[in-house]
Amino acid sequence: MKRSIMLKANELMEDIAKKRYDRNALFFDRMDALFRGMLSDRKRALVKEAKGRVLEVGVGTGATLEYYPEDVELVGIDISPKMLARAKKRAHIFRGKKLTLLEADIQALELPDNSFDTIITSCVFCSVTDPVRGFRELNRVLKPDGSGLLLEHVRSCRPGVGKLMDVLNPIVVRMMGANINRNTAANIRESGLTLAEEQNLWLDILKLFRVTKGKEDRICP
Ligand SMILES: C[S@@+](CC[C@H](N)C(=O)[O-])C[C@H]1O[C@@H](n2cnc3c(N)ncnc32)[C@H](O)[C@@H]1O
Repeated sequence: MKRSIMLKANELMEDIAKKRYDRNALFFDRMDALFRGMLSDRKRALVKEAKGRVLEVGVGTGATLEYYPEDVELVGIDISPKMLARAKKRAHIFRGKKLTLLEADIQALELPDNSFDTIITSCVFCSVTDPVRGFRELNRVLKPDGSGLLLEHVRSCRPGVGKLMDVLNPIVVRMMGANINRNTAANIRESGLTLAEEQNLWLDILKLFRVTKGKEDRICP
């Protein structure tokens, strides 16, 4: 009973997140351009490491598509049809072997276990309603020798900055759909994924997480 209420609440929240990104799709690229200096080189470096069969979660308007190496097969997923429609318009700039863009939710993927060599995310787990559930799915579809490269912004551990992020979070969520005060390292660990490396890229707010598949017995709730 409690579980079904929680699933219903999650569905409702996911619908809200989807609608927010559908609305944001109109101006997302212009807004993203404000952070281009900080993000685009990092997105390029992230995606260049992709190998084999790749899943990009929250592919958005396709900002990373042009950076992928030529020998990868990419499946890009997003919950927002309007963000995806923009990515589809950019599909011609993808130089890899094969590109599939799908409307899908990282919290409940209809994709087989152990099917991806690399999983990429860039600024996505701030928006996923239940990030631990999303990371569990990521763990499930990652191959045992695969790797996840996650470029994510998180709550700062500096007391003043972290508190300010907590205060501003409800406003940012309402406007942008992104939580700015998540403890993503803790969420990764809770999901059962193995956190192999956590690197600060800008202060202690923008981070690169390298993850590998965790033990099977920790995948199931
Ligand atoms: C801040 S945007 C980042 C887009 C892109 N990765 C980039 O760097 O430009 C976050 C994206 O994650 C998507 N998203 C949010 N929750 C999701 C979920 N549960 N499953 C899949 N995609 C999701 C949103 O629709 C949005 O396109």
